Amino acid sequence: MKAAVLDHLRKIPQYTRHARHARSVIQHGNIRKWSNLIRVEIERKLRRIEVKGHPYLLIIDPCNYCNLRCPLCPTGVKDLGRKQSIMSFDDFKRYFDPHIPYLFEAYLHNWGESLINKETYRFIQYAQENNVGTNLSSNLVTLSSDDINNILDSGLEYLVASLDGVTAESYKQYRVRGNFDRVVHNISELLRRRNLRKLKTPIIEWQFIIMKHNLHEVAEAERLAKKLGVDLLRFIPAGIPFDFQNKQELIEQMFPPASEETDIPDGARNPLTPIQKPGPCFYLYRSMVINTDGGISPCCEVYRKNSDFADLNDIEIDTGRIWNNEMYRSARAQFSHQNPTSKTATICDGCEIFSRPSNKQVTQRSPLENISVITEEPGSSQPQSPKRRHQ
Ligand SMILES: C[S@@+](CC[C@H](N)C(=O)[O-])C[C@H]1O[C@@H](n2cnc3c(N)ncnc32)[C@H](O)[C@@H]1O
Ligand code: SF4
Ligand code: SF4
Repeated sequence: MKAAVLDHLRKIPQYTRHARHARSVIQHGNIRKWSNLIRVEIERKLRRIEVKGHPYLLIIDPCNYCNLRCPLCPTGVKDLGRKQSIMSFDDFKRYFDPHIPYLFEAYLHNWGESLINKETYRFIQYAQENNVGTNLSSNLVTLSSDDINNILDSGLEYLVASLDGVTAESYKQYRVRGNFDRVVHNISELLRRRNLRKLKTPIIEWQFIIMKHNLHEVAEAERLAKKLGVDLLRFIPAGIPFDFQNKQELIEQMFPPASEETDIPDGARNPLTPIQKPGPCFYLYRSMVINTDGGISPCCEVYRKNSDFADLNDIEIDTGRIWNNEMYRSARAQFSHQNPTSKTATICDGCEIFSRPSNKQVTQRSPLENISVITEEPGSSQPQSPKRRHQ
């Protein structure tokens, strides 16, 4: 039965990310994981501050160094606010193991180029051996022939290839220091060897971020995608990182103008008026983000060390305790109808991505003084960050 459903999901040619998650939930599920999933979703619905459920998606970053300099990425512009490092296999195992009983999927990228870390293949293999599905996004610029084989041998289930253009000239406007021809060659070689070996995975998604300078290339990208034989071509909107100061300027510089909105493919449109997702924030219930240095960010939208909710090097790793620590409880309380007595300032206080109950104000933390300053009500300000990197 399980195999039949999975086969059916695989046959849907351009299945959505929801279908991909559904596939993981079926393929990597068992009674314990499914019961936990139901508990998590109920606790989110009830806006619980303290939870019994465990995160079922883990985002774990093998490496936050990068060979490229993308202008809308904090790593690319050297403004990550966190020391750059590479995760060792021992640390990976130490961070990953406590989550295994509840995980359907692990994302092995966050704020760098994961394939710079040659242990990443081992991380993938280890996750797969422990019945956890794997997903990785890469710029695919510097792959050797061995790297291509290593990706195929690792058992990686889903690979996102970041390629935002169909010519070297437009590609390099965002992927600064990248090499268009090499990425196209690497995608094609991955597909050739995968098909030759009759492997079902990794599913290869070409991800194309729509910006002002590449919007006119949509039709050509569709043609090239067919020619290459990628499993899926996905157009996504560009986002501006959470802590960038010159958001409006970057929007004007990089985003397609409103007059060209009708040319933008479905799903890649950046709403002119920011649309808040209905609260409470799902990251605070479903996923945990572990950075290269063992720091825990509340979600993949934020990146600075000073926004972390915990540091796995400072404490004994007890996922349940961390998941309900003062920071997580305070962040969830922002979305609850209750007014908790203890309140610690967190990065979530100033976040407008998810809507809150009307009695909760959005407060903006001063990054310098770590004090809270009340700003406007949710929904009345500029777009925060339409980017959702781990959907
Ligand atoms: C920070 S990158 C790390 C992984 C890898 N270096 C890469 O670029 O694929 C994580 C994801 O964010 C995407 N990304 C980069 N800049 C973006 C932007 N301005 N808006 C939306 N997504 C972006 C990347 O394409 C990738 O899928
Ligand atoms: S390739 Fe990925 S990590 Fe590197 S700068 Fe670009 S978006 Fe950031
Ligand atoms: S910063 Fe925003 S999106 Fe991230 S966990 Fe907090 S409330 Fe959720």
